[in-house]
Amino acid sequence: MRIVMLGAPGAGKGTQAKKLIEKYKIPQISTGDILRQSVAEGTPLGKEAKGFMDRGELVPDKVVLGLVEERLGQPDCKAGFILDGFPRNTAQAAALDGMLSKIGKPLQLAISVDVPFEDLMKRLTGRRTCRTCGQMYNVYFNAPAKEGKCDKDGAELYQRDDDKEETIRKRLQVYESQTAPLIEYYGGKGIVRRIKGTGSISDIFNAITAEIDKAGGK
Ligand code: AP5
Ligand code: MG
Ligand code: ZN
Repeated sequence: MRIVMLGAPGAGKGTQAKKLIEKYKIPQISTGDILRQSVAEGTPLGKEAKGFMDRGELVPDKVVLGLVEERLGQPDCKAGFILDGFPRNTAQAAALDGMLSKIGKPLQLAISVDVPFEDLMKRLTGRRTCRTCGQMYNVYFNAPAKEGKCDKDGAELYQRDDDKEETIRKRLQVYESQTAPLIEYYGGKGIVRRIKGTGSISDIFNAITAEIDKAGGK
C-alpha cells in the first residue's frame, strides 16, 4: 500500500505509522525524523533546516522534495510506504503526484487522524522519545514504566526542541493554513479516510487498519 498520514502536530501520525510498519512490513518515511537526524549529524541539509524547524515553520519545498524523491527510490519502497509528515502543502502534494505517476504507482490512501485542537498542546508538551529506538511516550497519557527511560531498551528519553509552547503554537498555525487543505485535495481524488484520533492507541490503530484492509491491504 502507498499511504499518506495526515493530521495536525501531535495527532499521533508517528505513533500509528510505527505500528503499521510492523503489520504491513512497509517502511515509514517521516520527513520530520529524516530532518531531525540531519540536524543531529550536522550535515549541510541539517544546517539549512534547523532554523525553520526551531521556529515551527516549514522547511523549503526544494529541500524536502529532494530527500523524499531519493528515499522513494530505495528498494524497500517497492512494496509500498507510509508517508508521515509529507506532503505538508499543495505544492508538495502535486510534486508527489508527479513522482508517483512517473512510475505508475499513485497513492492509494490518505488517512487523516483527527484530534481536537485543545488536546494537541498537552500531547506535544508531554511527549518524550527514545534516543535509541524512537519509541514515543507521553508523561500525561502513556508514561514509561520508569521515568525518563525507554520500556523497550532502557535508553534515555528526550524532549524534541520544537515541543515548546511557543513553537507548538506556530506549528499548529502552519498546519491550519498550509497542511489542512490537503484533506480537501485528496478528498477530491476520493482517497481520504478520516479517523477519530482520540481514545486508545490500539482502538485508533484498529480503525486505521480496517480502512487499509478495505482498500486492498497489500
Ligand atoms: P514533524 O516531525 O512531521 O512533526 P509534526 O507534524 O509537527 O508532527 P509530530 O511528529 O509532532 O506529531 P505526530 O502526529 O507524529 O504525533 P506523535 O505520534 O508523536 O515535523 C517537524 C518539523 O519538521 C516541522 O515543523 C517542519 O519544520 C519540518 N518538516 C517536517 N516535514 C516537513 C515537510 N514535509 N515540509 C516542510 N517541513 C517539514 O504523538 C504525539 C504525542 O501524543 C506522543 O507523546 C504520543 O505518545 C501521544 N499520543 C499518541 N496517540 C495518543 C492517543 N491516542 N492518546 C493520547 N496520547 C497519544
Ligand atoms: Mg511525528
Ligand atoms: Zn527505546
